[in-house]
Amino acid sequence: MCGIIGYIGHQQVQNILIDGLHRLEYRGYDSAGIAVLEGGEIGLRKKAGRVQELGQLVSEQPLQGSMGIGHTRWATHGEVNDANSHPHLGGDGEVCLVHNGVIENYSKLRKALQAKGYEFHTATDSEVIAHLLAFEVKRLKEDGDSEGQALYVNAIQSTLVQLKGTYGLAVLFEDCPDKLFVARVGSPLVIGIGENEHFVASDASPLAGHTDEVVYLSDNEIAILSAGDLQIIHRDAGAVNPKIEVLDQQAADSELGDFPHYMLKEIFEQPQTIENAMRGRFNDDEATAVFGGLNLTAQQLRRIDRVVLTACGTSWHAGLVGEYLLEEFARIPTEVEYASELRYRNPPMSENTMIFAITQSGETADTLAAMRECKRKGHPTLAICNTVGSTIAREADGGIYLHAGPEIGVASTKAFTSQVTVLTLLALFFGRMRHLSYPAGSRIISHLREIPELVEQALKCNEMCKYVADKYYNSNNFLYLGRLYNFPVALEGALKLKEISYIHAEGYPAAEMKHGPIALVDEQTPSVFVVPRCGIYPKVISNLEEVKARKGPVIAIACQGDDKIAELADDVIFVPDVEEYLQPLIASIPLQLLSYHIAVLRGCNVDRPRNLAKSVTVE
Ligand code: F6R
Repeated sequence: MCGIIGYIGHQQVQNILIDGLHRLEYRGYDSAGIAVLEGGEIGLRKKAGRVQELGQLVSEQPLQGSMGIGHTRWATHGEVNDANSHPHLGGDGEVCLVHNGVIENYSKLRKALQAKGYEFHTATDSEVIAHLLAFEVKRLKEDGDSEGQALYVNAIQSTLVQLKGTYGLAVLFEDCPDKLFVARVGSPLVIGIGENEHFVASDASPLAGHTDEVVYLSDNEIAILSAGDLQIIHRDAGAVNPKIEVLDQQAADSELGDFPHYMLKEIFEQPQTIENAMRGRFNDDEATAVFGGLNLTAQQLRRIDRVVLTACGTSWHAGLVGEYLLEEFARIPTEVEYASELRYRNPPMSENTMIFAITQSGETADTLAAMRECKRKGHPTLAICNTVGSTIAREADGGIYLHAGPEIGVASTKAFTSQVTVLTLLALFFGRMRHLSYPAGSRIISHLREIPELVEQALKCNEMCKYVADKYYNSNNFLYLGRLYNFPVALEGALKLKEISYIHAEGYPAAEMKHGPIALVDEQTPSVFVVPRCGIYPKVISNLEEVKARKGPVIAIACQGDDKIAELADDVIFVPDVEEYLQPLIASIPLQLLSYHIAVLRGCNVDRPRNLAKSVTVE
């Protein structure tokens, strides 16, 4: 949540900051701002609204200079207005910062600073840090014990020890015109190294195209950036050597191309992203999957007697598919846990319980905390993650990357199908270590290999989804119903609809409907039945009939060639027929498209839905 960008070097900074904020906007988009330090003066432009509006403001009132910071906000403390937008000034304007995270003890600190005479101009928790820094600089100057860079580092350190909560910070000091200071606890920051220039950002997307050398800052580190130098100091360990990594991301990866929205682009990328998730991961000779980064021996893997998958939101839905797959194919007792619950719960876990944190961003605060808690208890913790170099990817004992490329649309689509693909491979892998026969393993591999082509075919239902969307987009409520592997698909379909179209939607196991949600059924409430052919197809059909009997409109997601369904449902969206355990990869496609078209017809901002942000780095 919130996007930070910073630059120090030889180029004019304004456009670098604005361009970076555009690329970070998916992290938060209620307001934006930049600050530029030039000739000992800090120039500030900030505004509630989108980065585009800030761009307009700075084109009318440009800022000159070659070092600066910028921020795109997802409000936590204080309403959305110009004043609460970042950057924030401290003292009499001698300190300027941008902050991502939450300061839990801000109210106490604020009172203490007010008692010392500091005037607050915003309702944010971040302004507290700015004033605290100003106070510490003043105090250290008066003490006279340190000067130059050391003085500012000391001021930052003595400020940070007073903060409770999380932060990614980029700070300018008026009196220190050749250094940009950054620090983190719990909120990601990545530093880009250029030719006589340095960048800092909340994630790598704004760095692509500028540099391919990056350093991921760790918790409790402060970095001091100047045009030609980068120093990192750890709170406990002192100076550390920056670990330079290669950034494998092109600026074009984040471009929209000919699509009207990132979400649609990402939906249509799925044949390719699923292929990427499988590439190099089949061992045909042994009819199993291979993973390069699990970092566990075969013996350790064989000892695993329980798996806990932990995640949030869409990633949790992928985890639920994973639970079904691992239990069916590997016979390992598996649980999918909401990370926000697991981090504070204390469920019994056997010594050989393995944890998988499933996450697109690799930065979700709850998933990270749940993973750390399990790691602390000595369990092997692995990540199924899309974002290379993210905190979860780095802190996990090992893991599996999705290789889906940057997901910019706030509603997750391609990451979901990649997660499900990887979880299927994992079930195959663990299955082949245990009960699954060679022919069964080979069959799974050949079915998986067909998936990209079948997803390509499934995408042909786009026009039908548009037609169905047009018929129902004014509805106020939707039900999504499915059973077994299609229950998580129903949950995911409902989540997609509510997050981008603001229509109330509930996902339920189809038979569970009779225990409550059926009361919602009326002529105005469409029920979306995910009913591809499966072992309990007749049972789902009975559930569908129950809705029809109560005059509820039914939209069915069914397999091509299913003539029966056409007689029962009001509308049918056909998708290719696949094995039951692979249906989530196919059946989720029409649900993504349906939500997309409904949101477009309702005039919603598909890629930037209200109140949401892509990477949830606060608890
Ligand atoms: C929904 C969505 C969210 C995320 C959730 C977890 O479309 O995107 O529900 O799935 O915030 O995010 P990651 O996967 O980045 O941990």
